[in-house]
Amino acid sequence: MKENETPLYATPELGRKVTEYSEQHSTPLPKHITDFHASIVANRNDSNYMSSNFQSQWNYVLARSIGAKRVLEIGVYVGYSAMVWSHAVGPEGRVTGLEFESKYAKLANDAFAANSINNIEIVVGPAAETLPKLNPSEPYDIVFIDADKTGYPGYLKQLLEGSQPGSTRRLLRPGALIVSDNVLRRGLVADLGDTVLEEDRLKHIVAVREFNKFLN
Ligand SMILES: C[S@@+](CC[C@H](N)C(=O)[O-])C[C@H]1O[C@@H](n2cnc3c(N)ncnc32)[C@H](O)[C@@H]1O
Repeated sequence: MKENETPLYATPELGRKVTEYSEQHSTPLPKHITDFHASIVANRNDSNYMSSNFQSQWNYVLARSIGAKRVLEIGVYVGYSAMVWSHAVGPEGRVTGLEFESKYAKLANDAFAANSINNIEIVVGPAAETLPKLNPSEPYDIVFIDADKTGYPGYLKQLLEGSQPGSTRRLLRPGALIVSDNVLRRGLVADLGDTVLEEDRLKHIVAVREFNKFLN
C-alpha cells in the first residue's frame, strides 16, 4: 500500500534540481514574460511578491486545459501573473486584475503597454470593495486569489454570493476554477507544531484555515 504523505527530496539541493528539471520539461512561458520576471527580481526588493515561473507554467497549463477565456486575479502586484493569464487566454480573452496599490497598478499597466498586451484591465482599490462591483459581460472561468491572506475567506464568500445559479450577473461560471496561492503556508496551516508566530502571521494562518474549510 502507498502511504498518504509525500516524501520530499532527500536534500534541499535535490529539491532545487528536480524543480529546475521540471521547469525545463514543462510547457515554457514566452521570453517577454520570463524576461519581465527576471527584471523585477533584479530591480525590486519586494520581488518575492511575484509567483515563480514554475508555478506560472502550471497556471498556464491549468487555464489552457479548460479553455479559459476570462480570468479574474485578486492581487496583481506589478503584473507578472496577469501577463501569464493574458498569454493563456489569448488576444480574444480577457483578464481582470484587482489591486489595492495604485503604484503597482501603474507599473503593471506600463509593463503591459511595453509588451503590447491589450487584454488586461486593472481595477484599483481594496478587493473587498471592488470585487462585488464587478459586472463582467461573461462570467470568469478562473479566479486566482493572491492578495492579503486575511481577505481570503471574505473574497471566497463574495465570489460565491456573486455566482448564484439563475442570477442575471454571475462572477464565476458553473465549474469555474478557484486557484489560490498560500493555502498551506509552508505546512503551518496544517500544523503549527512548536512554531511561534507573530500576531499578524498567526492571523494569516487562521484566515487561510477558514478559507480552506469554507472550500469543503
Ligand atoms: C503576492 S502579491 C501578488 C503577486 C502577483 N499575483 C504575481 O504573482 O505576480 C499580492 C498583491 O496583493 C495586493 N493586495 C494586498 N491587499 C489587497 C487588497 N485588500 N485588495 C487588493 N489587492 C491587495 C498587494 O498590493 C500586492 O500587490
